[in-house]
Amino acid sequence: MCGIMGYVGPRQAAPLLLDGLQRLEYRGYDSAGVAVANGPISVRKAEGKIDRLAALLQKEMIEGSVGIGHTRWATHGAPSDRNAHPHADSSGKFVVVHNGIIENFAQLRSELGSKGHEFTSDTDTEILAHLIARRYDGDLVSAVRSAVASAEGAYALAAISEHEPDKIVAVRRISPLVVGLGDGETFLASDILAVLHHTRDFLIVEDDEMVVVTEDGATIESISGSEIDRPVMHVDWDIEQAEKSGFDHFMLKEIHEQPSVISETIAGRLDNHNHVRLEGVNLDSTFADELNQICITACGTAYHAGLVGREIFSRLLRIPTSVEYAHEMRYAEPLIASGSLTLAISQSGETADTLAAARLARSQGSRLLALTNVVGSTLSREADDVLYTRAGPEMSVASTKAYMAMLIGQYLLALHIGSAKGVLEEELVERIMRGLHALPADIETIIENDEEIVTAARSIASAEDLYFIGRGLDYAVAMEGSLKLKEISYLHSEAMPAGELKHGTLALITEGTPVIVVITQQSVYEKTISAIQEVKARGGRVIAVAYQDDPIIYELADTVLGIPRSDDLFGPVAAVVPLQLLAYHVARLRGHDIDQPRNLAKSVTVE
Ligand code: F6R
Repeated sequence: MCGIMGYVGPRQAAPLLLDGLQRLEYRGYDSAGVAVANGPISVRKAEGKIDRLAALLQKEMIEGSVGIGHTRWATHGAPSDRNAHPHADSSGKFVVVHNGIIENFAQLRSELGSKGHEFTSDTDTEILAHLIARRYDGDLVSAVRSAVASAEGAYALAAISEHEPDKIVAVRRISPLVVGLGDGETFLASDILAVLHHTRDFLIVEDDEMVVVTEDGATIESISGSEIDRPVMHVDWDIEQAEKSGFDHFMLKEIHEQPSVISETIAGRLDNHNHVRLEGVNLDSTFADELNQICITACGTAYHAGLVGREIFSRLLRIPTSVEYAHEMRYAEPLIASGSLTLAISQSGETADTLAAARLARSQGSRLLALTNVVGSTLSREADDVLYTRAGPEMSVASTKAYMAMLIGQYLLALHIGSAKGVLEEELVERIMRGLHALPADIETIIENDEEIVTAARSIASAEDLYFIGRGLDYAVAMEGSLKLKEISYLHSEAMPAGELKHGTLALITEGTPVIVVITQQSVYEKTISAIQEVKARGGRVIAVAYQDDPIIYELADTVLGIPRSDDLFGPVAAVVPLQLLAYHVARLRGHDIDQPRNLAKSVTVE
């Protein structure tokens, strides 16, 4: 995820900016840059590691004591020198860094283009520099305010100008920004960690606020211009805690990020007229009319996301959809008909097996669509179409927010294909839109009320074997819940469709055996209840993930991890969250290394 750093004070800005950016490295990035004002503004930027930027600066240091810096994690435009931030307007007098996404970027770019503006990058950020320059009338604050009024989206930006070289003007619209108050110097950053070694006194900039940073401190006002008196926050975390924004582990932080990841993944892709616009995906109606088979291929958690995709595509689009483990598919002889689409899902876009299966499908004439989190990854470069998930870098080996974003990506794809094919009734489209928009708040509620999950974790922390069951979409979630538990708690667990239990595994259910049942699907509700009865009759202990207003489940199960009632199409998306938290708390109780579980790697680039 991108990082912002800024400095105004008596010291040389460039080395301080570089140091701050290095402290943001852990967030992941693909390029970095700084801009320093000293009369004219000088910019240095480079694709790749910060060392490359450092080498550039070493060759030719830029002098000046006001500056902004950035680490970029590509969203618009491939990682490259020219797309790296900072970006300037054509005169070079207004320079901007920016995190997040300008949703109406295409429209603004063409409007500015028609007024003669020329652009040197593919980014949405550059638009902001041009807008600010265009609106500048002797006051940088007003120019930034006016530019921001035209730029929709969730973002944070920081701007400097040669005309007013004593300040940084910054805005927060959802993406975080903080001001660090030093002694005769002031810092700006997207993350406290970048400046925690300089000061422990911070002003937190809230959504829809502007901040003007000078060496004497900072003034905060609302976007509309009313002054805000923000109390200073004194931070006493240590550096390691700060990296995780105060969470004990990256996994927990990433679980908590899921509501905003959903919003980011949807941002700018759904409009008020029920249209979906997926930049990078061009399945037009000619292709969609011929489309008669979807094959999803992936590994691990991404495969489990594909299990959800299979249900969504078959149910909503009525297109036969299969999901294949990539490591199996690459050595099988897949039957790929003409008119087929292969959806390769991979957080990293670098998983060797997924790449091999995707290449095989493509070589046999299938169109290849990549669903991935990493811009410029091998999978994204080789695919015909790419949908990016915008989950931001995932640090914990056990995937949570990337999985969540993969689910959301597949709902968006179903809308895209459904509308190109003309098979989705307006009412169904509205239902999907409503479901997607409701998810962040529902997940927030689950995360905030985790007492029952902690209690359930205590009750299974020393179990020998556990079973996860569910039907349809609930089965897909059961698979993911079981994998999470295995990965970080090292407990043995198995997941299966609820109907499969009685065909053998029931022999293993004895007094006290924990069975985790996911039950959100009303169409198979009674059937899953029967499976619960079978487990109870053998003395098994049922932990149900179910709607919190379901009295029957509270009667039957030993423990219920309740989730807010939702549309059945989306129940399983929220249902995975208690299972992620359950795995987290069990692993914690067992004292394991949660973020780096034994024997596992984040990206499996070998076969
Ligand atoms: C488990 C996990 C792995 C990955 C799998 C595929 O939490 O993260 O199972 O899902 O190795 O990785 P990607 O999605 O990068 O292809």
